[in-house]
Amino acid sequence: MAKNKTTPLSSKPLTINSFSAMKGEGEKITCLTAYDASFAGLLDESGIEILLVGDTLGMVVQGQASTLPVTVDEIIYHTRCVVRGRQRAFVMADLPFGSYSTPTLAIQTSSRILKEGCAEMVKLEGAGSRLEIVRHLVDQGIPVCGHIGLLPQSINQLGGYFLHGKTDESARTILADAKLLEEAGASMLLLECIESGLAAEITGSVTIPTIGIGSGCDCDGQVLVLYDMLDITLGFKPSFSKNFMAGKGSVSEAVEAYVVDVKAGRFPPRKVKK
Ligand code: KIV
Repeated sequence: MAKNKTTPLSSKPLTINSFSAMKGEGEKITCLTAYDASFAGLLDESGIEILLVGDTLGMVVQGQASTLPVTVDEIIYHTRCVVRGRQRAFVMADLPFGSYSTPTLAIQTSSRILKEGCAEMVKLEGAGSRLEIVRHLVDQGIPVCGHIGLLPQSINQLGGYFLHGKTDESARTILADAKLLEEAGASMLLLECIESGLAAEITGSVTIPTIGIGSGCDCDGQVLVLYDMLDITLGFKPSFSKNFMAGKGSVSEAVEAYVVDVKAGRFPPRKVKK
């Protein structure tokens, strides 16, 4: 798909503005996590538009039980590797747990991730007290992606991984948080494990692009953890993910199939109401 004749890939690097334009035009945005230069190059060539250097690297690369142990230095190291490997894709990096608890600390951490890691956007989890932090980062010229729904950095507080927004009260809070993050200056929202109808409502209620994971097919784009969709992850596999390697001869073919399916609105499949 990425290199076919009808939809040639422009070699122009993608920017923050590319994704607002895609939302406006109803074109789905493709995103996968990436942690090194080789995969970054392959994903980029296969048509992935956003490479997320996620703190899932703690789990899938380092073998940790959660994302919490990941350090700022580790995110910077992996982001630099990813940036070296990509040509066109936009690179977003996670702010690790404990690295953005005050505006000053958040600005220090994010500046390092942009200066030393060369990321183009940082992602942080939550709203509430984070709104002030988003405002400070944006004021310093640092683009921010907000992350709402399931917050893996709060796993000890949540007690487990589950779908969010199922009750009226939690749906109201998540929708309000999405709007407040946009107002605070976030340029993108990652919606993790949010009930699909609510994720669709959020996507229609904000002007910034939403990227979903386990949040249904009506988000502006989709992201998966690379190792889950390549079926490399050992142990627990999230039910919303899919093994794109099944029946494919190479990693490039698997990633191209993901790009085709996301662009066509076929992944994730729409749930039929019984
Ligand atoms: O850290 C990460 O990889 C994420 C996933 C939810 C995509 O944020």
